[in-house]
Amino acid sequence: MRPKLVVGNWKMHGSLSGNKNLLQGLVAGVGAIGEVSASVCVPFPYLAQAQQMLAATPISWGAQNLSEHAQGAYTGEVAAAMLLEFGCRHVIVGHSERRALYGETDAVVAAKFVAAKSAGLVPILCVGETLAQRESGQTAEVVAAQMVAVLDKAGVGAFAGAVVAYEPVWAIGTGKTASPEQAQEVHAAIRALVAGRDEVIAAGLQILYGGSVKAQNAGEIFVKPDIDGGLVGGASLVVDDFLAICQAASR
Ligand code: PGA
Repeated sequence: MRPKLVVGNWKMHGSLSGNKNLLQGLVAGVGAIGEVSASVCVPFPYLAQAQQMLAATPISWGAQNLSEHAQGAYTGEVAAAMLLEFGCRHVIVGHSERRALYGETDAVVAAKFVAAKSAGLVPILCVGETLAQRESGQTAEVVAAQMVAVLDKAGVGAFAGAVVAYEPVWAIGTGKTASPEQAQEVHAAIRALVAGRDEVIAAGLQILYGGSVKAQNAGEIFVKPDIDGGLVGGASLVVDDFLAICQAASR
């Protein structure tokens, strides 16, 4: 059995005082939750705060993006080594908002995945189709192409200890969740694709579902055999909701 993982993606939300309340609440509640790993991916300026507040707790933390470069004249960018200095475990790579709003191509996403993995971070590689792509029957093809771009560049070996998140774009922040069956189908296809290159790595690969995961729907999603937890946006900003989702993953 693969262990379950629940990751909060705060996106561009937070403040020092608000984060303090949120993190205190999570720390206070996480002890009551069973076998689940939890992590929060916070905006860069709050990494120091996350490190300070979560260091001695079971909750991990990470970032939402990183540079594909190690260092240099890249104004506004943040390198993997910098994230490590702030104790990050995870880093989200290729979120659909970065692909759509900041022009991240499959090639850039693959380079970021390599930069994260080779620095010792756990990349959470996001893949997923748009509504138009789903409606025209292209889901499998689109997700496979996003996966293959990274598999070809990084090699399947780089997926050992990495995480994939299937996030249908039409389900992100919309309140529309993929049905557990729809999600399971894509998760199984992702695992089969990786298994075509390495069965052992595929069997151990954590594949998270993301897109309007809530306390109410988390249980029925996480029970599916190829769904190993969630990448949670909006509901990760509310203590009780995020804890309830962690609880659902621990069953
Ligand atoms: P959501 O976001 O849970 O608010 O839909 C998920 C994500 O974008 O990672």
